[in-house]
Amino acid sequence: MKPLSIRLKLTAWYVAILLASISLVGIAGFVAMKKGIEKSVDENLEGQADGVKELMGRVFQEEPAQLQDELREHQELREQADFLQVCDQNGRWIYRSRLMTHYDLPVPSKASYSAYDVMSVDLPLRVLVREISSGGDTYRIQVAAPMDDFYDAIDRFKWIVLLLSPLVLVVAAVGGYWLSRRALAPVDQITQAAQEINSSSLAKRLQVPQSGDELQRLSETLNRMLGRLESSFNRITRFTADASHELRTPLALMRTTTEVSLRTSQTVGDYREAQEEVLAELEKTSSLVEKLMLLVRADAGVETLQHIPVNLAECLRAACKDGKILADAKQLRFTEDIESSELFVEGDSHALQRLFLILIDNAVKYTQSGGSIKVGLSRRNDSAVAEFRDTGIGISVDDLPNIFDRFYRADKARSREFGGVGLGLSIARWVAEAHRGSIEVQSTPGTGSVFRISLPLLQD
Ligand SMILES: Nc1ncnc2c1ncn2[C@@H]1O[C@H](COP(=O)(O)OP(=O)(O)OP(=O)(O)O)[C@@H](O)[C@H]1O
Ligand SMILES: [Mg+2]
Repeated sequence: MKPLSIRLKLTAWYVAILLASISLVGIAGFVAMKKGIEKSVDENLEGQADGVKELMGRVFQEEPAQLQDELREHQELREQADFLQVCDQNGRWIYRSRLMTHYDLPVPSKASYSAYDVMSVDLPLRVLVREISSGGDTYRIQVAAPMDDFYDAIDRFKWIVLLLSPLVLVVAAVGGYWLSRRALAPVDQITQAAQEINSSSLAKRLQVPQSGDELQRLSETLNRMLGRLESSFNRITRFTADASHELRTPLALMRTTTEVSLRTSQTVGDYREAQEEVLAELEKTSSLVEKLMLLVRADAGVETLQHIPVNLAECLRAACKDGKILADAKQLRFTEDIESSELFVEGDSHALQRLFLILIDNAVKYTQSGGSIKVGLSRRNDSAVAEFRDTGIGISVDDLPNIFDRFYRADKARSREFGGVGLGLSIARWVAEAHRGSIEVQSTPGTGSVFRISLPLLQD
């Protein structure tokens, strides 16, 4: 079954609630009307019965023989509501008014202090019975009131409610449907506009209705979401393009080298030279692919890091051991100043070592022979701070904000010369952030750079 549209659901709810309200009001009105009428009739009956009782009391004292005449006289004044009968304890009639005789209400079995309904022939009556004793005899006074007019009025009310309700409900349903259609029309527009946006038109935005309501907020939120999608999409596209470009260059180089060698090499030495060139390119390419894989896996959230206590000093010393070899090869002075107290962080020792090596590698790469590199580790409040200071070429103010971007190299030619592709710092930042840490840089062109990594220490 096709699910109902919001418009139909809203209308259905609206009609259902209205139906419930009408029913409630109808029933409450009906009950209140009936009770109100009965209350005033009952008060009237009680007044009548008390009046007769008082009259009888007086007659019993003064001239009991005149009881019937007195009752008739009393009753003759009440032409329209002539419902009175009095009997003695043996059920013998002392007095019966004309209408009582006509409707022939039976002898009351006992006194009743609240009124009750009786159907006599075809006239609904409300009846009240009172007792009075005199000289050892008990008499029952019965008064009644016809209810037909009242009940007709209640009936009319009932029918009016029953007949009008469907009409009201139909009008409400049509009105409700029209209203919800009007209110939801902008949603259709948003849906249509959203359908037109695809990967090649991610720059498009939805029109924002200036209504200040939920729909304005919805369009603005969707637009912000589109903005985020657009920038990640662009980032991925750029990443793919850069990655293919970076892969194409070494492949082309290897191909040319092999082709030229096949065509021109004559000695084993020639072939060997060509093979060595190819091997060097292959090594660079594998390292590139490995970095790419790592970043892709990190983006997809599948690159899992360990979360165990890691002794940072140990980790940094291990990285420095490799760093020293690199520095020595380039005749750079390499010093380390690692705090002896144990600084533990929670994380992955391989990833952290890799992070340190990336920074040492850069320091070595971008510092001319004769320069110096200083690595330090110290505690600052609740963090461990690892510092990598070099006296290298430095980074210009224009490049500084971009060096952590993927494939960004301040000087492409120079970096490529050292085998750099511009992924090291992207990986470094990812590792630092995955450890809830941060990485920052200060640099002066021509003087040198300092990279600082701050990692939250493990509490006890
Ligand atoms: N210590 C440094 N001194 C001067 N420039 C630096 C330093 N570290 C990084 N840079 C600049 O920042 C750029 C990005 O560094 P990153 O480590 O990401 O890439 P890369 O070293 O070129 O390549 P690789 O992916 O092999 O590390 C470098 O190309 C370089 O221009
Ligand atoms: Mg690097």
